[in-house]
Parts: sequence; structure tokens; C-alpha cells
Amino acid sequence: MSLDKNNSQYSKIAKLFHWGFVLLFIYGVVKQVDDINQLEDNIFFRFEIIFAITFLLLLLIRFVYMKTTQNTSIPEDTPKIQKIIAKIVHNGMYILLGGTVFSGLLIGFLYWLGIKNGFLIGVVITVHELIINILYFFIIAHIIAAIYHRLKKDGVWSSMVPFFKENRFK
Ligand code: HEM
Ligand code: HEM
Repeated sequence: MSLDKNNSQYSKIAKLFHWGFVLLFIYGVVKQVDDINQLEDNIFFRFEIIFAITFLLLLLIRFVYMKTTQNTSIPEDTPKIQKIIAKIVHNGMYILLGGTVFSGLLIGFLYWLGIKNGFLIGVVITVHELIINILYFFIIAHIIAAIYHRLKKDGVWSSMVPFFKENRFK
């Protein structure tokens, strides 16, 4: 659904989703599986799967909520190419977040089936790691873009970020 007016502020729920996911993602990366043999531990394995499924469901809810109720804060007069790049980075982060969890769940499924080493699970692990590394790249680009907007003082930063606000959005 396309909404016709740009935001000066994201809703409280949108901000909660955005910043909640930043924390969830950091947690996911910090507690990452360092070695596939860790999955032998049943409690660890079950926790990893529950975390991943919860993450995926919340991501789906966030995506539907954002696409149906919120719009970007990028000013209307921004060059078209910049708007397109912003869309690619935002949607790309959704796809890559989903892809990280989905490929992680696929590793878990193969492991559960007894396919614990070899070509197939090796490929899925490589894909899982590749997706995460592309995601890091997107997140860095996203943060640089946010800082650029903060310096430009066009309201994009303050519509989502609760600190270092521009005066007019205090
Ligand atoms: C794990 C890290 C992050 C991810 C995955 C992420 C993802 C996203 C996504 C998908 C959007 C589009 C709106 C939405 O659908 O929620 C967004 C908007 C935004 N994010 Fe982030 N974000 C991250 C971290 C940050 C950080 C650290 C900052 C600032 C320091 C930031 C600043 C913003 C701003 C200003 C917007 C509004 C952009 C606009 O309206 O076009 N984000 N973020
Ligand atoms: C939110 C979900 C997840 C996040 C954020 C995440 C994050 C990560 C990260 C950051 C790495 C290291 C990548 C690298 O070194 O380049 C990794 C590797 C890995 N992850 Fe995940 N992961 C998630 C879900 C899962 C799930 C559900 C499983 C399986 C049950 C899994 C299994 C693995 C395995 C086997 C590796 C490779 C470990 C090795 O190097 O031997 N991940 N994950």
C-alpha cells in the first residue's frame, strides 16, 4: 500500500519495532553459533530455534505494520535516484534479516534430520554467513545515510532516532 504523505515522525510502535530489532539483532549476533557442534546441546539447539522462529514472526508483523501504516520521512523533493536507493536498502535489510533467520532454520532442520556435515549443510552454512555479511554492509550504509540526513537537518534522522535530535523536532 502506498501512503501519500511523508512522515515527520514515525509512530511509537514503529520506533519500538525499529529499536527493538536493533537490540534483538545485536543479541542474535552476539550469541551466534560459533561452531556447528554446539547444536549437539539440546537445550541450546531448542533455544536457537525458538529465538529464530520468534524473530521471523516479529519481522513479518513489523514488515506488514510498516508497509500499511507508515511512510518514509525522506522529503518529497529528494532526487528520485536517492529515493530508489533508500527503498533498496530498507527492503534489502528486511530480505537479508529474513534470509539470515531462514537459512539458520534450514541449518537447524538439516541438523535435526541427521545431516550434520558434508556438502549440503556446508553450502547452507556458507549462504547463511554470506547473507549476514551482506546485511552488515547494508546496515553500515543505512547508518551512514542516517548520519548524512542528520547533517542535512532534513528531519529524517529525528523522525526515527530519539537522540541528537534536530531542534525543530524537540
Ligand atoms: C540492525 C540495525 C538496523 C536495521 C536492520 C535498520 C532497519 C531500518 C529499516 C528497515 C527502516 C525503514 C523503516 C522500517 O521499515 O522500519 C529504517 C529506518 C530508519 N532507520 Fe534504521 N535500522 C538499523 C539501525 C539504525 C541506526 C543505528 C540508526 C541511526 C543511528 C537508524 C536510523 C534510521 C532512520 C533515521 C530511519 C528513517 C528513514 C526514512 O524515513 O527513510 N537505523 N531502519
Ligand atoms: C536471528 C537468527 C540468527 C542470527 C542473527 C545468526 C547469526 C550468525 C552469525 C553472525 C554467524 C557468523 C557468521 C560469520 O562468521 O560470517 C552465524 C553462523 C552460524 N549460524 Fe547463525 N544466526 C541465526 C540463526 C541460526 C540458527 C537458527 C542456526 C541453526 C540452528 C544457526 C547456525 C549457524 C551455524 C552452524 C553457523 C556457522 C558456525 C561455524 O562457523 O561453524 N544460526 N550465525
